[in-house]
Amino acid sequence: MRSIISTESWQSTVLTAWIRSVFERNGIASTPRPALPTMPACDHRPQRYAGPSRGEVLVLRQRYAHPALFTFYREPLLIVEGHRQYLFDETGRRYLDLFAGIATVACGHSHPTVVARIREQAGMLQHTSTIYLHPNLPQLAQRLAAKMPPGLEVTYFVNSGSEATDLAVTMARLFTGSPDVIALRNGYHGGSPTAMALTGLSTWKFPTQQGAGIHHAVCPDPYRSPFTGTPEAIATQSAKDIQELIRHATTGRIAAFIAEPVQGVGGVTHGAPNYLAEAYAVVREHGGLCIADEVQTGFERTGAHFWGFQNYGVLPDIVTMAKGIGNGMPLAAVTTRREIADALLGRLHFNTFGGNPLSTAAGLAVLDVIEGDQLQDNARVVGARLKSGLQGLMRRHTLIGDVRGLGLMLGVELVRDRATKEPATAETLEVLEHLREIGVLAGKGGLAGNVLRIKPPLCITADDADFAVEALDYALARTGTP
Ligand SMILES: Cc1ncc(COP(=O)(O)O)c(C=O)c1O
Repeated sequence: MRSIISTESWQSTVLTAWIRSVFERNGIASTPRPALPTMPACDHRPQRYAGPSRGEVLVLRQRYAHPALFTFYREPLLIVEGHRQYLFDETGRRYLDLFAGIATVACGHSHPTVVARIREQAGMLQHTSTIYLHPNLPQLAQRLAAKMPPGLEVTYFVNSGSEATDLAVTMARLFTGSPDVIALRNGYHGGSPTAMALTGLSTWKFPTQQGAGIHHAVCPDPYRSPFTGTPEAIATQSAKDIQELIRHATTGRIAAFIAEPVQGVGGVTHGAPNYLAEAYAVVREHGGLCIADEVQTGFERTGAHFWGFQNYGVLPDIVTMAKGIGNGMPLAAVTTRREIADALLGRLHFNTFGGNPLSTAAGLAVLDVIEGDQLQDNARVVGARLKSGLQGLMRRHTLIGDVRGLGLMLGVELVRDRATKEPATAETLEVLEHLREIGVLAGKGGLAGNVLRIKPPLCITADDADFAVEALDYALARTGTP
């Protein structure tokens, strides 16, 4: 018996050594299955939940809510409370939130300053519309102008990113007198008709009439680019693709080019640092305005800068923003130069809720909090730590094809084969389920739904980041096994 065991253990030692050498030759460290990680401590005690049960909410939603609303996870979560970077379900279970209401809750859930300022304003005056003066609107516009490069100084407030996209494109068309707009493949700009037309992802486009005059240039992200060479060379070829598109698909003059500095819904994809400058130069040669869609990248998410475009040293003509600006309140905006804004004076333009006292109170509080809590530094430092931890996991898990992003806007692309880059769509869903089981909520994106999107509240700590990496290690190790 003993000799059999020792023969088996000898065989298994040889086998393990051989597997390890194969792994090492392929740059993958073979280490034992990671242990169950522990979430960092938190002293917040959630309130006792006394509302309808999860099952009742699900039934109500299935019966009365529009069926197009979708949920994550095989068993949808009921979330009833939030505290900074954590969410709580109806049982009081805590989750580390790596998705922040889709890159929205920048300051953290129920941040006391934001909550106090919303309460104070709601108790005083909630809504009148812009037909009367109220200090919050111009004060927030002034604070935004101070965050912008000189010249970008007038702001129109709306309620959603889609509205901001529509308004930006309308102003560009009116200002230039041209209907043609260039957007990027793999980009996302919203769900309203114009924003949907600008979106470059078939999964988000309905078979309704797509806007005329909209053309999609090649996405500059090197991971799945049709071009080859260094990321910088791919960026240059991608910028030239805009030129080709303008020369062949338009009159040669265009209204605008719209791009996210880092594509969010598309799976945290972005070009090399030279891309936006080269793209903007081409666009301007053809009379177009450059629109930076900062709906996800604005408000310090990318860490090194307040706005995403600042990572590339470019100066847009129009900036759209939403999500982080309100920390969850319905607030969005378009900031531009005065002469471009003046293009909208030919007719009446009105938005009932845009810039109302309540949402702008939230916007003012958000600016105070992200400055006071030094969230940009945190996004840069903790984001870099998280990214390097995720990159480290590539050595252990062949399922990870790419890790990318800036600050606290990170993407982990999962592929079945690093050579063919076949999207690991089902595996991504499984990883999300395993993460949820251990208390971590992440997002997903990309055309094939195979990119884990990590965009936590900007107040996430270094310990949370380490836990997130350990949790993903654990989840990946369980993926594909019974
Ligand atoms: C980059 C970008 N632009 C625009 C939008 C549209 O914003 P909303 O959903 O507020 O209409 C989104 C939404 O995810 C976005 O990510």
